[in-house]
Amino acid sequence: MSDRLFIFDTTLRDGEQVPGCQLNTVEKIQVAKALETLGVDVIEAGFPVSSPGDFKSVVEISKAVTWPVICALTRAVENDIKVAAEALQYAKHKRIHTGIGTSDSHIKYKFNSNREEIIERAVAAVKYAKKYVEDVQFYAEDAGRTDNEYLARVVEAVIKAGATVINIPDTTGYCLPDEFGRKIRFLKENVDGIEKVVIATHCHNDLGMATANTISGIQNGARQAEVTINGIGERAGNTSLEEVAMIFRSHHELNVETNINTQKIYGMSRMISSLMNMPVQPNKAIVGRNAFAHSSGIHQDGVLKNRESYEIIDPKDVGIDENSIVLTARSGRAALKHRLSALGVELEQEKLDQVYEDFLKLADRKKDIHDDDILVLAGAERSTNHRIKLDYLQVTSGVGVRSVASLGLNIAGENFEAAASGNGPVDAAIKALKKIINRHMTLKEFTIQAISKGSDDVGKVHMQVEYDGHEYYGFGANTDIVAASVEAYIDCINKFC
Ligand code: KIV
Ligand code: ZN
Repeated sequence: MSDRLFIFDTTLRDGEQVPGCQLNTVEKIQVAKALETLGVDVIEAGFPVSSPGDFKSVVEISKAVTWPVICALTRAVENDIKVAAEALQYAKHKRIHTGIGTSDSHIKYKFNSNREEIIERAVAAVKYAKKYVEDVQFYAEDAGRTDNEYLARVVEAVIKAGATVINIPDTTGYCLPDEFGRKIRFLKENVDGIEKVVIATHCHNDLGMATANTISGIQNGARQAEVTINGIGERAGNTSLEEVAMIFRSHHELNVETNINTQKIYGMSRMISSLMNMPVQPNKAIVGRNAFAHSSGIHQDGVLKNRESYEIIDPKDVGIDENSIVLTARSGRAALKHRLSALGVELEQEKLDQVYEDFLKLADRKKDIHDDDILVLAGAERSTNHRIKLDYLQVTSGVGVRSVASLGLNIAGENFEAAASGNGPVDAAIKALKKIINRHMTLKEFTIQAISKGSDDVGKVHMQVEYDGHEYYGFGANTDIVAASVEAYIDCINKFC
């Protein structure tokens, strides 16, 4: 009989901390419902005291979701805990996640404190949280770099105070897998009362070891894995849900199982990538575009003879069904609706009609429409409420000539026009744009990515623009990459104009 591993998804908290990945409440509810269908056990819905938006999202997710535990993050601060409890009031199953830094570096530099005082604060926070909820999870921030003897004392104290789950984060992604596994084992063997609680791993990927550390932690007794979709999260990200779920599904000898409906993984991954405007690296395990692509002749030959020669996972097991991903101009509304639904996107009739119109326009320019294309179309309405809109764009460019662009903007109903020349079509178009929006803006990051393949493909552009000491993220998608670039720049400007 296999042991059950609880999956704690923190895409909406740790994942959402990534600059440029912020979602509005409606989008967060959409993600939370999809996570419920995916089968996660716990959804970390936010950090309620951090902003009114986060508070509201935790409230609304609590109302919208039935089965998973809804978890809210706090510091070891009474007001944080009180606000979290308030935000969780509608949750059918609720958990407060409180904690404090336990490494010497955190104790000295972050808290200007000492080890004994940190234990007192940890215990007080757990006892205070227990006044509001039964299920209290404690995190020992930077546990990865915390001395094991001291960590065991902290953990023992918070268990006595009533903690039900103990989270051991490798906050900086520093641990080696063997070292992290030994840390979990040390706690299992040296903490009184440890058998009463679930131990959780929360590993960051700074050295590319997040998943390896998580697996090592589980092999040594942890029974909750904290993960995000596509591994997004602070800096290099967190352990990815899809990797953990598929490792335990593939390695039966580990005798650990999750409740994840793996066939929902691909749709979930695409939904997060699209809503958060965060491309998935093509070679990302399980969900990358190339994860199941065999390019070398030897591999192709082997796969044709027997799929298992080079494939340890059937793509269908993660929801990739090669036969169903292509829509064309002849596809009807029902096919579009069905495909969006398979990708976890449910649209009201009016919005579906609008997406279908856009779909037909795109299908005129592009023969095959892929999942990523329709997810971009489904998310496009996020930019329709913008104050500044691109009205038209005309560009002349070529080899041996200087590029010239003229464009029209509609700003709150008024039309403006400008033209400029530049070093390439994008430069010319952005110079023309800046003639109208006359502010000191600097382009800090600019990436163009084709969604699938083919010269008629949609180009997705991500930009980061600095203005007045702040950085703003923008996104554009168009079969014309100059237009996509201008849309992305305008998307940035709309965040501060
Ligand atoms: O990485 C970390 O330590 C965290 C905690 C707040 C759980 O995200
Ligand atoms: Zn974290």
